[in-house]
Amino acid sequence: MERKTVQIPPADLDRQREFEEKIYRMFADREAHPVACVDTFGCQQNVADGQKLMGMLRACGFAFTKEPGEADLVILNTCAVREHAEQRVFGNLGILTHTKRENPEQVIALCGCMAQEERVSRRVRESYRHVDLVFGPHALWKFPELLWQVYTTRRRVFSVDAEDGTIAEGIPVVREKGVKAWVSIMYGCNNFCSYCIVPYVRGRERSREMDCVLEEVRSLVEAGYKDITLLGQNVNSYGNDLHAGYDFSDLLDQIDRIPGDYWVRFMSSHPKDATPRLFDTMARSRHVAHQLHLPFQSGSDRVLREMNRRYTREQYLSLIRYAKSVMPDLVLTSDVIIGFPGETEAEAMETVDLVDRVGFDALFTFIYSPRPGTRAASLPDPATRAEKQQWFDRLLAVQNARSAALHAAYIGRTVRVLVDGKSDDPDFPLSSRTEGNRLVRLRGDESLIGQFVDARIEDSNTWALFGEALPG
Ligand code: SAM
Ligand code: SF4
Ligand code: F3S
Repeated sequence: MERKTVQIPPADLDRQREFEEKIYRMFADREAHPVACVDTFGCQQNVADGQKLMGMLRACGFAFTKEPGEADLVILNTCAVREHAEQRVFGNLGILTHTKRENPEQVIALCGCMAQEERVSRRVRESYRHVDLVFGPHALWKFPELLWQVYTTRRRVFSVDAEDGTIAEGIPVVREKGVKAWVSIMYGCNNFCSYCIVPYVRGRERSREMDCVLEEVRSLVEAGYKDITLLGQNVNSYGNDLHAGYDFSDLLDQIDRIPGDYWVRFMSSHPKDATPRLFDTMARSRHVAHQLHLPFQSGSDRVLREMNRRYTREQYLSLIRYAKSVMPDLVLTSDVIIGFPGETEAEAMETVDLVDRVGFDALFTFIYSPRPGTRAASLPDPATRAEKQQWFDRLLAVQNARSAALHAAYIGRTVRVLVDGKSDDPDFPLSSRTEGNRLVRLRGDESLIGQFVDARIEDSNTWALFGEALPG
């Protein structure tokens, strides 16, 4: 049966604003603001969640620090996608025993995708007794209430029940000042790629109503944000759960009508749901960047089947051919996994061949990491780590050569860029991005930050372009 997307009722959300007020009043007698340190790991979706946590904390009266030792409240907003990410978090949790020893009143919270894993919350319950609050992404909207419970009961609070997930509108947000903003348009994932933990920790796919997304984008453009990224694990299935007769292409079309000088981009797209209609919409839009992050994961049809990706190598290549035919300036990036259980050297080389053939502008490359509870984690995995590393190195060499050549082709051209901040290179003190999200280090005046300018490209390497801002 079709699942109906569950919205948190406004009255329940209002109650959370009341808990924020209560916490605010609790701290009102203190001389200084309470201080929180929010450390976010993982993808942009988690970054967007971290900004909501900060929004709720600001409403509770908190100021912010990057130093856990100075904080009254430390929050680790975690990622579970690979083992390495999890190990880092357990390492950080270990370090926090010292800050808590110095300041026994310090509250320590663990949230995000790791917290939603039963295995992790059990380990924290048993072995990390200095952690006061553990909650998964499903409980993010009621963080003020959970924090209030910690402060008033002084007991450990766990809110980690498995759920399909909900949508909560109107949570306050602290955004980075500047030109870039993230807008989640949907949550969760239904795809169950066999290697991936995300569907287990983020619940089922659910889309925000189009009007809510449009309102948010409009207010961001009015506030001066110029580079807006729409987020979802698979934005191409946006709207499927709403049964409202609109899809992701329609959403892009509507956003494109919002007046202003801005770019809008999106991630991630799943090739099984990307359509020529989407590419046509991108091609004719004024604001949608001609940039596509379309993860292909493997160049071998057998491995793609084992991964449960539901497209073939040829279908992927033909999608890209179409996208490039309607957007010859398309900047294309992708995610790849090397060393999926049972992958042979020949199959890994099919991936390397696909990378060579397509010529991606940039690639996010990963060595397979087993995630307990996923289907792939129980498959036999005979290749050694050293073998996988060798295949991985070959992939990187091919991609780096491709990136360097694509970047070199910009030399001598004038491109429109958005100046988004300072760079750490004294010769090229500004950082900027092309429409395709290529990094351009620029010579120019700081007063250009936040503006679109024309830049003449003089030099390049594998990772960046270098140039000069032309007088406007
Ligand atoms: N939903 C997005 C998609 O399907 O393209 C990506 C989400 S995932 C957070 C980002 C990337 O991490 C994936 O595209 C995949 O390449 C990689 N990844 C996910 N699970 C992994 C695993 N178990 N080991 C290695 N890489 C993994
Ligand atoms: Fe993970 Fe696949 Fe969903 Fe992406 S589409 S989040 S890789 S299960
Ligand atoms: Fe993102 Fe990591 Fe969760 S990649 S969705 S924070 S598992």
